[in-house]
Amino acid sequence: MKKRNSILRGAFSLLLLAACMAPMLRAWEREPLSVFGERRARLSAAIDAPIVLFGYTGHEEANPSYVFMQEENFYYLTGHNEEGAALLLVPESAEKNGWSGSREILYLPPRDPAKEKWNGPRIGPDDPGIREKTGFARVETFSNLHDTLAALAKNYPEIYTELPGPHDEGFPHAANWSKWVKDATPQASLKDVSSAVGTLRAIKTPGELALMQKAVDPSIDAHFAAMKMMRPGLYEYQVAAKMVEVHAYAGCETEAYSPIVGTGINSTVLHYDKLDRRIEDGDIVLLDVAGQYAGYASDITRTIPANGKFTARQREIYEIVLGAQNAALAALKPGMTIGGQGPASLQKIAMDYIDSHGKDKEGRSLGQYYIHGLSHHVGLDVHDPSGPARPLEPGMVITIEPGIYIPEENLGVRIEDDVLITPTGYKLLTARLPRSVDEIEKIMADGRVEREKPRP
Ligand code: GLY
Ligand code: MN
Ligand code: MN
Repeated sequence: MKKRNSILRGAFSLLLLAACMAPMLRAWEREPLSVFGERRARLSAAIDAPIVLFGYTGHEEANPSYVFMQEENFYYLTGHNEEGAALLLVPESAEKNGWSGSREILYLPPRDPAKEKWNGPRIGPDDPGIREKTGFARVETFSNLHDTLAALAKNYPEIYTELPGPHDEGFPHAANWSKWVKDATPQASLKDVSSAVGTLRAIKTPGELALMQKAVDPSIDAHFAAMKMMRPGLYEYQVAAKMVEVHAYAGCETEAYSPIVGTGINSTVLHYDKLDRRIEDGDIVLLDVAGQYAGYASDITRTIPANGKFTARQREIYEIVLGAQNAALAALKPGMTIGGQGPASLQKIAMDYIDSHGKDKEGRSLGQYYIHGLSHHVGLDVHDPSGPARPLEPGMVITIEPGIYIPEENLGVRIEDDVLITPTGYKLLTARLPRSVDEIEKIMADGRVEREKPRP
């Protein structure tokens, strides 16, 4: 028996050793719980009314490959990444009306041992140490929320929650839960909390920036891999598969958005996702592919020639897009705006550059082929909330992504990088991934040599 135990112990240590030697074991990384508490305190201080937010339930999609990912505003304020939770923030003024105790409550569904046999353990409101695990001084069972909210509404004519936005048809989360709040507090008027949370989300903490870099780095590696493998005869989906593999192997939990690998005419389709075309000699290939790490997105595009050499026309258009990107980067600093028509508009700088360089086959300027915005914020969402007119501030992370799309020439070019706004300018988070024609052709030529090396 003793001997058997020691063999087992030996086997166990071997397993442990193997686990330690594995290249990377993914454990969900999260900022310290105190950071989420500070966000809640800031939001609550800005709004003198109860705020109630709901996490996703896990039933948002019927797709069998669906993997639960928390609602972003809810995650931003709680760090809680399990199904069926809610958050209540009670304003300080409620203390005058007899509110005592914690002004922030996390509501969790009770544990369900039968379900946990299928889906694994979840944390529940009555778990020992639940306060330390969640960072909330008060954690209650979900079913208590209704009556607490109804009681609070007696003293507050307004309740803040997420209301459905203009583009939310088909995403019923906010519609369903705002109806639930309305039913619980029929006399209150509901206000949208989303823009107040979005304002906070726009400025990243150092912890968020560290996580974002962990999304950016494997995404850069995936673009290198795509450049090295690229050749006529492959299918678009094969290139995407390689890039997704690089992200997943490095610990990304998912893609930040559906991969775009568009060749030939498909390079001119902005959110092309079919990926079923064979890559032909002479094609341009637009790769807008990036991973997500610990909830944080990256967003990177490179455009490369299928056979490793840009044609003269592809190169001409590519260098105009690169020139527009560099013009926008040169002007990038706090106070500039993503959009608008004023002198601070980065969009206008990029558009003016594109419209004053090069011509189409009819001799017309190219501005009409630049058909989208230059930039958006990135964070928990690849398109993080924020308006185009909000002046940029240090701590914001945005893309700079001009493009020219000429369907008549089967030619679409976009170059997209992620930048952090600093007090004096910007830091290119994607700097390790080359953008110039010569560098891209060199990486592709090296890739070809590696591919064609005789194998022993
Ligand atoms: N990948 C989506 C976008 O660039 O906005
Ligand atoms: Mn983008
Ligand atoms: Mn993109």
